[in-house]
Amino acid sequence: MGMARWMVGAGLALSLTVGAAAAQVATGGAVKDRQAHFLQQGAAFKALLDELKKDQPDPAVISSNAAKLKSLSVELPTWFPAGSGPETGVKTEAKAEVWSEPSEFAQAAQRFQAEAAKLDQLAMAGDLAGVKAEAGMVGGACKNCHDQFRAPPAKT
Ligand code: HEC
Repeated sequence: MGMARWMVGAGLALSLTVGAAAAQVATGGAVKDRQAHFLQQGAAFKALLDELKKDQPDPAVISSNAAKLKSLSVELPTWFPAGSGPETGVKTEAKAEVWSEPSEFAQAAQRFQAEAAKLDQLAMAGDLAGVKAEAGMVGGACKNCHDQFRAPPAKT
């Protein structure tokens, strides 16, 4: 009977450990997913800027990347679930301030959403000069958030 009780206790401890490990994997996965989204975002912005440098920019390339940036900007706030910060142990450049200063973070995300929406409108209108000027504003919105909420890359 003493033995049986011990075994029940051990089983409970084991299932708690497994539960904790599963939670860790989920948040670590959220970090990886977020970074994959940002790589897509970086690639879309770079493709747009590269196209703008050409003598004859292709309006289809401009508008598809502007549309991608707009939809990513709307999704962006969902890439930061609670618990997916530096505490996961997975290497991340997201600062703890993302979660401790939620209204400032929301503001930075909204600034980017507003600029990305303008970019998309200008691209759909085929306004190349407008797109060029607005691309600078979008880049400023990326930098504004990175300056506040993204840690500089580790110097290792
Ligand atoms: C509202 C905040 C915010 C905005 C706006 C934002 N970023 Fe970021 N970005 C971050 C944070 C935070 C990270 C760090 C993510 C991590 O490591 O978990 C990041 C990381 C990145 C990365 C590195 C991804 C990796 O892990 O390799 C790239 C590339 C990037 N952002 C590009 C952009 C571009 C381009 C824009 C604008 C078009 C932009 N970001 C706008 C917050 C933002």
